[in-house]
Amino acid sequence: MARGCRALPAVLALCAATWSCCAAGRALERDQPFRPPPGWVLAGRVSPEHDVQLTLALRQRGTARLTRLVRAVSEPRSPQYGKYLSVEQLRDVVQPSPATLMAVLKWLQSHGVEDCRSVATLDFLECRMPVSTAERLLPGAEFHRYVKGQRSVIRSPQPYVVPEELAEHIDFVGGLHRFPAERSVVSRAWAKEGMESRGQRAAFHLGVMPSVIRKRYNMTREDIGVLPNNSQACAQFLEQYFHQADLAVFMKLFGSGFPHRTEVDHVVGHQGQGRAGLEASLDVEYIMSTGANISTWVFSNAGRHESQEPFLAWLLLLSNMSALPWVHSVSYGDDEDSLSQAYLQRVNVEFLKAAARGLTVLFASGDDGAGCRRVPGGNHTFRPSFPASSPYVTTVGGTSFKNPFMVTAEVTDYISGGGFSNVFPMPDYQADAVRTFLRSAPKLPPSSYYNSSGRAYPDLAALSDNYWVVTNRLPLPWVSGTSASTPVVAGMLALINDRRLQRGQPPLGFLNPALYRLRERGHGGALFDVTQGCHLSCLDGTVQGQGFCAGPAWDAVTGWGTPNFPLLLRALTAP
Ligand SMILES: *[C@@H]1O[C@H](CO)[C@@H](O)[C@H](O)[C@H]1NC(C)=O
Ligand SMILES: *[C@@H]1O[C@H](CO)[C@@H](O)[C@H](O)[C@H]1NC(C)=O
Ligand SMILES: *[C@@H]1O[C@H](CO)[C@@H](O)[C@H](O)[C@H]1NC(C)=O
Ligand SMILES: *[C@@H]1O[C@H](CO)[C@@H](O)[C@H](O)[C@H]1NC(C)=O
Ligand SMILES: *[C@@H]1O[C@H](CO)[C@@H](O)[C@H](O)[C@H]1NC(C)=O
Ligand SMILES: *[C@@H]1O[C@H](CO)[C@@H](O)[C@H](O)[C@H]1NC(C)=O
Repeated sequence: MARGCRALPAVLALCAATWSCCAAGRALERDQPFRPPPGWVLAGRVSPEHDVQLTLALRQRGTARLTRLVRAVSEPRSPQYGKYLSVEQLRDVVQPSPATLMAVLKWLQSHGVEDCRSVATLDFLECRMPVSTAERLLPGAEFHRYVKGQRSVIRSPQPYVVPEELAEHIDFVGGLHRFPAERSVVSRAWAKEGMESRGQRAAFHLGVMPSVIRKRYNMTREDIGVLPNNSQACAQFLEQYFHQADLAVFMKLFGSGFPHRTEVDHVVGHQGQGRAGLEASLDVEYIMSTGANISTWVFSNAGRHESQEPFLAWLLLLSNMSALPWVHSVSYGDDEDSLSQAYLQRVNVEFLKAAARGLTVLFASGDDGAGCRRVPGGNHTFRPSFPASSPYVTTVGGTSFKNPFMVTAEVTDYISGGGFSNVFPMPDYQADAVRTFLRSAPKLPPSSYYNSSGRAYPDLAALSDNYWVVTNRLPLPWVSGTSASTPVVAGMLALINDRRLQRGQPPLGFLNPALYRLRERGHGGALFDVTQGCHLSCLDGTVQGQGFCAGPAWDAVTGWGTPNFPLLLRALTAP
């Protein structure tokens, strides 16, 4: 690291005088709520010499250019389609200005912060320092420990500020306010009937398994990956792990009828020795069932350092790796209203960066339907989920079989997350589809419940109900959630990439511009239109638990519907 302040004792004295004083300065995330999720208990102030690790999101340049670039490389009609950027080319677009780098480094050095690591795109810094230093660096911050069971995090319930002159150089500082994700899938049987009945259920051959998925979506034995250099990934941020042995048991029980792999090739991040988690097992087992015989990676980060934000740590990893799988399935989400504007806008730029590189990033749409939130005054409004609401990711909703015991047509799974962002405006690629929905839906919720000018989601869907998952060597039935549908779609897109690469075509990249044009290009059959059922929302006298309802073409519950693999493959490999 440069030693600007050190070499200039006069400047250093000045820094010390102006930068270590009182809480004068600019709050970067004044609107960031501090809400420890249920179960986290305050365990006292952290001692001054304890180390924390903070993530500085440095102000990027070229975000307007990046937006134009992403449009050009992801729009199939564009002459630039598929001309994706390498991480070095991406760095040249977004890297902070020299003035930003100098100002931030000087500021850090004036406080004796030296232990910092950057990423390949130069727009993040991850720095370790004692609590006493962090509290001087970011006046207002006060570090406390919170515990939940065996887990422990360090966070500041008080807002922080940065010196006025730094505010134009830093988007936000991570590791102070947001807690690790809590959402996870459940087995509905587990919740309802407890452990005793699992033995009986295990012998009961009903429910969604790879053969059912492959049959419903018309995948044949031949629909498997063949290229050694194609790959797919799932990322997850809970304190839970997948076990190779579970995957092997799963494939032995459920993997007949299609060639597949039984091992994950790369684990990036920390894989603990603890019990396997349901969500981690689910992601891996199902991405490897549709994306069969494709090399699979797992990004696993539950926050190794107590002051880390696991999701942010994953974004930093993406920005620091030059070779990444083309498809990423992520079952993670937070309420949009629980995140600061600065954070939301910056994370959205991180998805733009991924899109510029040709990565296909899929997020689960959430398991609370339209969601529900009380607004000041006592009325309710729907509650969108982020990153599902980002215009630069592909969001996957959920369905169930119309007849739960047969491979039939699909209807809405009432938990399927969907709705409209209150933060991100509706992107051009979906404007026609969403307006048609708003115009033609027979019954919409009252307009005070949602923001019809926002980014609407999900983009498509897949089965999300009644899955079999093997976890801790045991088959567990009735597992449900959009965390199931997301890896199913991810595996199919990885397989389509396999065919595209074989034909010398570029990978799919950011899918939405192509997805929303399938119908007008005569590929309407590439997705099974889901037209029945509504998802859940506020339990109040006005909407009575009902959010949006599925209908013909795009809708805010199941998007465009579920994949009919052979036709989707044909549509997305058409020249
Ligand atoms: C990014 O990668 C480089 C080179 O591998 C490494 O030195 C650096 O510590 C990494 N940055 C972070 C934030 O981990
Ligand atoms: C795919 O599945 C549907 C429903 O199961 C079926 O009607 C259709 O004929 C199948 N094949 C193709 C190529 O769509
Ligand atoms: C599975 O993929 C590998 C390349 O990763 C390929 O060599 C092999 O032929 C594939 N298996 C089948 C059955 O096609
Ligand atoms: C992957 O393999 C295919 C076929 O062997 C080749 O054409 C392509 O260049 C390779 N791609 C990469 C990124 O290595
Ligand atoms: C709450 O909703 C009712 C009925 O829609 C409306 O009349 C009232 O103005 C709303 N109150 C506030 C504070 O928005
Ligand atoms: C509605 O969404 C737009 C962005 O699309 C935003 O500017 C506006 O503040 C939102 N309105 C509400 C009430 O959240």
